[in-house]
Amino acid sequence: MPLDTTSYALPVARTVADLRTQVAQWRKADETIAMVPTMGALHEGHLSLIDVGRQNGATKTIVSIFVNPTQFGPGEDFEAYPRTEPQDAKKLGNLADLIFAPNGAEMYPEGYATTVSVKGVTNTLEGEARPTHFDGVATVVAKLLLACGPDLAVFGEKDYQQLLTIRRMVTDLAIPVKIVGAPILREEDGLAMSSRNVYLTEAERTAAGQLNLILKATADAISNGAAIETACTSAQQKLLDLGFAQVDYLTVRDTVSLAPIAKLDREARILVAAKIGKPRLLDNMPVHLRG
Ligand code: PAF
Repeated sequence: MPLDTTSYALPVARTVADLRTQVAQWRKADETIAMVPTMGALHEGHLSLIDVGRQNGATKTIVSIFVNPTQFGPGEDFEAYPRTEPQDAKKLGNLADLIFAPNGAEMYPEGYATTVSVKGVTNTLEGEARPTHFDGVATVVAKLLLACGPDLAVFGEKDYQQLLTIRRMVTDLAIPVKIVGAPILREEDGLAMSSRNVYLTEAERTAAGQLNLILKATADAISNGAAIETACTSAQQKLLDLGFAQVDYLTVRDTVSLAPIAKLDREARILVAAKIGKPRLLDNMPVHLRG
């Protein structure tokens, strides 16, 4: 199948073979290639990943759009996940150079039997709440990187544990790519941008805007000497009082290993996952060591 160059402002590759043909041409022309893996339903947060790729030297950008079935657990929103390829392509305009949009059979061929599983950093937080999630993420990202062979790949810090998992995998499997983490893009009230925010009702959306403020206030209090456990428990209670149905975790962890931290004796990360209405919202930010 040749590249589809007529549907949108930028071309689309639907097979690994077509993707590789285009990448090989760019390699000959000495281009620096960035990959931005996504599941579509693109928002400004995704578009900012393209910018970050360019700031890191990319001269060509490939955005992959694939709603990856293996990272959704039973009862999660795989079927309902927004699939908006034409709108996504419009948003990309000519910000990117190629869309890679394979179908399920291209990524998971008949008889598919291989899983990439990263231990350690995946055993906690999202890994506890969604036990098969990171195997699905690691497997699809390994496949995307091997299919494309980019110089760099950009992932948002919003899914902070995902970013650490991918860094670990790329190091362990010696995949020759630079992994670049990009800062969280936020709405005006600070809510981290996410494709799942569309599920929020108006009232839930208002309460959701408090999540980052409470997280920031907690991070600041801890930096200024507040006890970690007390500060996190009080933040969780504030979220429940605001109408969040459930707080899966609100916790301060080591920046690299995600091991729990009882006392702020190094730079750390505060992370939250909390359910309001349909979506589970994630957010995180650094907790700076003062003095
Ligand atoms: O962050 C996401 O959108 C997905 O987990 C990713 C990295 C595209 C893999 O499917």
